[in-house]
Amino acid sequence: MNATDLILGQTFEVTGNPMVSAWESCVAVNSAGAVALADGKIVATGDAADLRAQFPLARVTDYGRHLICPGFVDAHVHYPQTAIIASWGKQLIDWLNTYTFPEEMRLADTVYAQETAARYLDLVLSHGTTTVCSYATIHPASVDAFFQAAAARDMRTVAGKTCMDRNAPDGLRDTAQSAYDDSKALIAAWHGKGRASYAITPRFSPTSSPGQLNALGQLWSEYPDCLMQTHLSEQIPEVEWVRSLFPDARDYLDTYEAHGLLGARGVYGHAIYLEQREIDRIAETGAALVHCPTSNSFIGSGLMDVAGLGLRGIPLGLATDTGGGSSFSMLRTMAAAYEIGQLRGAALHPAQLMYLATAGSARSLHLQDRIGLLAPGYEADITVLDLSSTPAIAQRVRQAETIWEALFPTIMMGDDRAIADVWVAGTRVTP
Ligand code: GUN
Ligand code: ZN
Repeated sequence: MNATDLILGQTFEVTGNPMVSAWESCVAVNSAGAVALADGKIVATGDAADLRAQFPLARVTDYGRHLICPGFVDAHVHYPQTAIIASWGKQLIDWLNTYTFPEEMRLADTVYAQETAARYLDLVLSHGTTTVCSYATIHPASVDAFFQAAAARDMRTVAGKTCMDRNAPDGLRDTAQSAYDDSKALIAAWHGKGRASYAITPRFSPTSSPGQLNALGQLWSEYPDCLMQTHLSEQIPEVEWVRSLFPDARDYLDTYEAHGLLGARGVYGHAIYLEQREIDRIAETGAALVHCPTSNSFIGSGLMDVAGLGLRGIPLGLATDTGGGSSFSMLRTMAAAYEIGQLRGAALHPAQLMYLATAGSARSLHLQDRIGLLAPGYEADITVLDLSSTPAIAQRVRQAETIWEALFPTIMMGDDRAIADVWVAGTRVTP
C-alpha cells in the first residue's frame, strides 16, 4: 500500500488501558516516530527512518519535537450551549432554567442552529478536538444542522435530539410519541451516514416522564447499535429531585434501567454521586461513564471518583460538557481532571489524562476501532501539539527530563496556542 502523506515527530502510542494497568505498560512515546496516511486512513506507524524508506514518494510533514497524537475526542457536549458558555452564578437546576433553556429555545430558528453548529465545530477543531458526542436541542432540525456542519468538515461525530416532555418550558417539550417518532426519523436520516452516528438522547430523568423513558427504551431495543446518552447523578439536589420523581426506583440509575435505558452502549455523563449498586450494575453491563471536570467544578457539582471507577474497568470518557463546562479545550479539561484527581487523592499521570482524551473517550463511544489511536486502519484524525507554545510553558519544558515532564506543562497550562496542527480524515485543516 502506498502513502500520500508521511508525518514525522514524537508519536503517542497506546496499547492498553492505563486506568486499569500500570501506565508504563500501556502508553509510550516514540521520540522519532512517523505516521503514514492514505485515503483518509492511517496505513502505517513506526520509526521515522523506517517509514521514510518504506514510502519514499510520500509528501513529508516534519513536526520536529512536536507531539503527534490522535485527535481529541470530547465524549459529552451540548453544541447548542456554545453561546452561553461561562454564564455566572448558578448551580445545575437554576443554571438550566436561567441560561440553558432560553438559549436552547433560540435553536428553533434553523438558521441560528446552523450558525451555532458551524461556530462550535470550528472552535473545537481549533482546540484539537476532532470528534464530539453532542446533545442537540428538542428540535429535530438542530440535529440536521449539526450533522450537516460536521459532514462539511468531514468530522466523525455522534449526536441526538434531546428529548424532554416535562419540567421544561413551553417550546422545549416534546411528547413520548413525538420523541420516539422524531428520533426514529433522525436515525434513518443520519445513523451510519458518512462519519455520523446517532445517540438516542433523553436529557435526564427529571425532564422525561416514565412514558417517554419507556418509549426511548423501546426505540433503543429496535436500534441496538445506536448509543444512548444521558446524565446521571451530577448534583445532590438533582439526585434528590430524581428520588422524589421516581419514588419506586432503587436509585438514579434504576430510573433508566427500569425503562430499558441501561446497556453497554449507554453513555452516562457526570456520575458523581453513585451508590454501590449503581457502580456494580454499570461495571456489569459495560456501560460507559463520562468525566466532565470543568463542568463539575464550574456548576459546583462535585468530584467524580475517576480513578476508582477506572480501576473497576468501567469505560471512561473525558468531556468538556460545553457549555456547563467552562472551556472548549480538552487540554484544559485534562488539567481539571488532574486537579479533581488531586482533591480526591489520586494524581492522574499525563499518560492517563491523554488516554482519557483520546482512546478512552473513543472507547466510551464504541468508536475504539476507528478513532482514538495512531494505528494502521484507523481514521486519520490527528492533533499535533507544540510542547513549548507559550513563554511560560517553554521555560518549564527546558527543565524537563522525560517526555511526560515535557508534556505535563502543556496539559496544565496549554490552550489553543498549543495546537500546532490538526488533520481530519487525512486532510490537514488550519487550526
Ligand atoms: N443535566 C441535564 N441537562 C444538563 C445540561 O445541559 N448540562 C449539564 N451539565 N447537566 C445537565
Ligand atoms: Zn451535559
